[in-house]
Amino acid sequence: MSSQTTLSPLPRTLVVGASSGIGRCLARQLLARGCEVIAVARRGALLEDLRGSAGAARLHLRVCDTSSSEEVNALSNELRARGLPPELLILNAGIGRLEECSEISVRGHRAVFEVNYFGPLRWVESWLEPQVPRSFVAVSSLMAFFSSAGASAYGASKAALSSAFESLALSHATQGQRFVLVHPGPVDTAMLKSPRPLPFTWSPERAAERILDGIFAGRPQIDFCWPYTWVAKGFRLLPARARRALLARK
Ligand SMILES: NC(=O)c1ccc[n+]([C@@H]2O[C@H](COP(=O)([O-])OP(=O)(O)OC[C@H]3O[C@@H](n4cnc5c(N)ncnc54)[C@H](OP(=O)(O)O)[C@@H]3O)[C@@H](O)[C@H]2O)c1
Repeated sequence: MSSQTTLSPLPRTLVVGASSGIGRCLARQLLARGCEVIAVARRGALLEDLRGSAGAARLHLRVCDTSSSEEVNALSNELRARGLPPELLILNAGIGRLEECSEISVRGHRAVFEVNYFGPLRWVESWLEPQVPRSFVAVSSLMAFFSSAGASAYGASKAALSSAFESLALSHATQGQRFVLVHPGPVDTAMLKSPRPLPFTWSPERAAERILDGIFAGRPQIDFCWPYTWVAKGFRLLPARARRALLARK
């Protein structure tokens, strides 16, 4: 089955991580496009701001921690019981921070994986049903393609997420299920706490628009922002010695 045939024009959409940044813009733009939106995050007060958006009559707000299987299952059951199953799930919640040189901690890695990797997987586990066409979109990162200093947990979690979604897309290619990968470069949100302004950084509004246009065009993978897309993939092609010389923390 082709990936274009599985999504209706106005799918009921669940956006995880909708309280700020890219997710909030995704929720706003989906409402403006006419979709019904289930906006999910932990900070309910920030979710409430979405009530001021155009089309908010089609908005459902839910507080849920994506790192908790109990909370994800409880919300999924509630949505089923209320007749609100999503057709499109945008699994956008993520955490990450720059690690100190001396820092390596299994607990820290596990905490990042609980949100960035197991988080999306929990929603897939809850909603992957045979014969039910559904689209799962994982917001990964260009850092899935290469490692930079101070990002061992974040980069690993995004590489694992991209690898898992790539495999799921292959496994479910003929069953009406769609698995879409998004690899953003730097986007101006709370997560991008860069010590100096990065050139070619996108606004979260622009990022959300690119993601939605890609999803509705049936793209299997949506990568932005140029030139980071090329640089990230190009680094992988370099010999390890050259890559390390260029990227090592000075
Ligand atoms: N900004 C960038 O440069 C960039 C680049 C590449 C990829 N990305 C990816 O883009 C996605 C969105 O990030 P952003 O840049 O928009 O950052 P952001 O503004 O910090 O947004 C992160 C969102 O994730 C939610 N979240 C975090 N932990 C959660 C949890 N345990 N349960 C439920 N929701 C949780 C947050 O909501 P609550 O805190 O209210 O729960 C928030 O809505 C992330 O996956 C990030 O890795 C960002």
